[in-house]
Amino acid sequence: MAIIIDGNTFTLNTNNTSYIMQADQYGYLIHLYYGEKVQSAPYNLIVYADRAASGNPYDVKLDRTYSLDALPQEFPFDGMGDYRHPSLRVRDEEGNYGCDLHYKSHRVIKKEPLKGLPAMRGGDALEITLTDDQIDLDVILTYGVYEDVDLITRSVKVVNHGKKITLEEISSANLDFVTGNFDVITFAGRHANERQPIRQYVDHGRYGVYSTRGASSHQYNPFMILCDHETTEYSGQAYAMSFVYSGNFYGEVEKDQFDQFRMSMGLHYEYFSYPVEHDESFVAPEVIMTYSHEGLSVLSQNLHQGMKKYLIRDPYQGKIRPILVNSWEAAYFDFTGETILNLAKAAKECDLDMVVLDDGWFGKRESDNMSLGDWYVNEEKLGGSLADLSKSIHDLGLKFGLWVEPECVNEDSDLYRKHPDYAIKVPGRRFVRSRNQLVLDFSRKEVVDAIYEQLIEILDHVDIDYIKWDFNRCIANVYSDDKDSGKMTYDYVLGVYDLLTRLIERYPELLIEGCCGGGGRFDAGMLYYTPQIWLSDNTDAIDRERIQYGSSFAYPISTFGSHVSAVPNHQTGRVTPLNTRGNIAMSGSFGYELDLTKLSDEEKAEIREQVKDYRKYQPLIHHGLYYRYTNPLKDMIDAYGFVSEDKEEALIFATETRKIAGVQAYFVRIHGLEKGCLYQDDEGHVYDANVLESVGMPLRNTLGEYISFRIHLTKK
Ligand code: GLA
Repeated sequence: MAIIIDGNTFTLNTNNTSYIMQADQYGYLIHLYYGEKVQSAPYNLIVYADRAASGNPYDVKLDRTYSLDALPQEFPFDGMGDYRHPSLRVRDEEGNYGCDLHYKSHRVIKKEPLKGLPAMRGGDALEITLTDDQIDLDVILTYGVYEDVDLITRSVKVVNHGKKITLEEISSANLDFVTGNFDVITFAGRHANERQPIRQYVDHGRYGVYSTRGASSHQYNPFMILCDHETTEYSGQAYAMSFVYSGNFYGEVEKDQFDQFRMSMGLHYEYFSYPVEHDESFVAPEVIMTYSHEGLSVLSQNLHQGMKKYLIRDPYQGKIRPILVNSWEAAYFDFTGETILNLAKAAKECDLDMVVLDDGWFGKRESDNMSLGDWYVNEEKLGGSLADLSKSIHDLGLKFGLWVEPECVNEDSDLYRKHPDYAIKVPGRRFVRSRNQLVLDFSRKEVVDAIYEQLIEILDHVDIDYIKWDFNRCIANVYSDDKDSGKMTYDYVLGVYDLLTRLIERYPELLIEGCCGGGGRFDAGMLYYTPQIWLSDNTDAIDRERIQYGSSFAYPISTFGSHVSAVPNHQTGRVTPLNTRGNIAMSGSFGYELDLTKLSDEEKAEIREQVKDYRKYQPLIHHGLYYRYTNPLKDMIDAYGFVSEDKEEALIFATETRKIAGVQAYFVRIHGLEKGCLYQDDEGHVYDANVLESVGMPLRNTLGEYISFRIHLTKK
């Protein structure tokens, strides 16, 4: 049984983990345990003691050994003496802070969708309702249980039966630990260098990541890992939280005065002050949690397999995703319809599946200073209609994709001239431009409607198989014309999800690739709608290895929009072999980002081979278990592998990231194969899985820079 209720103790079991909580003698919901699967609730972990400077909630009367400042809690709230980071901070109508939440009821249900928000599908769920009888507020905690992939989800719904309240802060997940010796791993970066892992020891204080930029951000990803200080890729305990949300967030670990730990994740409290009227409710988005006692690779595999199975909408389920060429680095703004058709012909010669027309096809868009918001075709530039171009491309036997940036507007656009109030800015204040554009106020339905109408006008009339949904700036100057500005950042994200939902419902076959100046909104929320996301605007193969490495901790490899680009690379000037660029881009949803018409016959032939190989290996890459073998931020070689779930087959990639003379061979230790078995590569070499794991696979160091290896193994 996944959900066991024994009196006032609630246990959530997955195949390998248990999560246990208890409504205690005072009705407070106490967290008892999360970790490797257990047979019984470990009540004795709770230590009651007079903690001097920590206060005692009113209901416990004179019991000085009971303090919420010390006890592990499921959903800590502000107002009864817990000074650590609360999950709920609420003000009543008079502006007074505080609440006091006690257990009220529970029920076991089939997990339901969250209205307006992405969330994992299916699964059983436990709902526990807490209540504050003074302000008449119910807080419903929902726990989803996904036994087969060891995932547990959490979300929170606040239902206000009393007078108006204001939510000043609400988090979705909180994990308290009564002891530990932890490291926290977060993923930080910037535009063109996203999701670089940072591992640090957790000492007293708060360590965290956040975004107040309106999107989940290039700078910090809404994902974090807490693990034992000794945990490695293949051993040790680790916990993860992943936010199924694409806007402002925070994730944090705190070590408290008693050397206990609190890990939490939720909506960011800055730019958030959300009034909830009588009989209204508010939903805090879902957090996906997982635990592994077998190290970080298994932790990631739980997330990968779980997201693929229960979260990501994929119109290509069970099929090969189209291999595409994108026009951005091939032509930037400098193209006509003929340029795109020539690119399509070259794509056909290279055996690709799809051509994507990137930025520059609409309004009067000749540079990134104008026309965002005017989603009608620049026929003059294309030398014909978009429908004709699409038809010519389809006639070649290729699919056709289109770039859009629905959430933004340029001042130099018809939309802005007509509706300047649609753009987010504070009336009377000078505002922030970024890439010379503004963000549209998607928290207003009429604004979303206006963009929806423009987009369907195109999508209804042109044969389009894919769109690349971009978002190239952050929100500043938080304000909304028709509501309290404290609601704007959250309602904005709901507006984005609403438009995505409407498009998906209208065009169920449409493949949408997310993008945000590359990887600035790479999160589990977007993945619900867009099964692949452009990983980064940095297409340099060697930099990409590091971005792929960091991203792999949280997200399935199938979600990485990954392209082979030209050399010298446009972001770094680095020159890498085509074979290496191909190998690296294959770990993802594959494509090309270069002018194929300029390639030699030899290069085209090599691309045809890559395409053939990728088609052959895509099922293994997209559905196999992913193992990180080295750390490209430290090691000379970046190696990782995909092992089929039945361990019959494996595909290993290894690429030199640095070169030093005198190293004769790299030994890459291969994990995940079946112990005691022999494996054979495509050239007939036979390897013992035990030796591969304990000593490694030798890869000869040859002359040349950034050499890459790809080894396909089958069990003998
Ligand atoms: C962003 C995207 C790029 C490209 C440009 C077009 O930077 O990440 O891939 O689409 O916008 O303006």
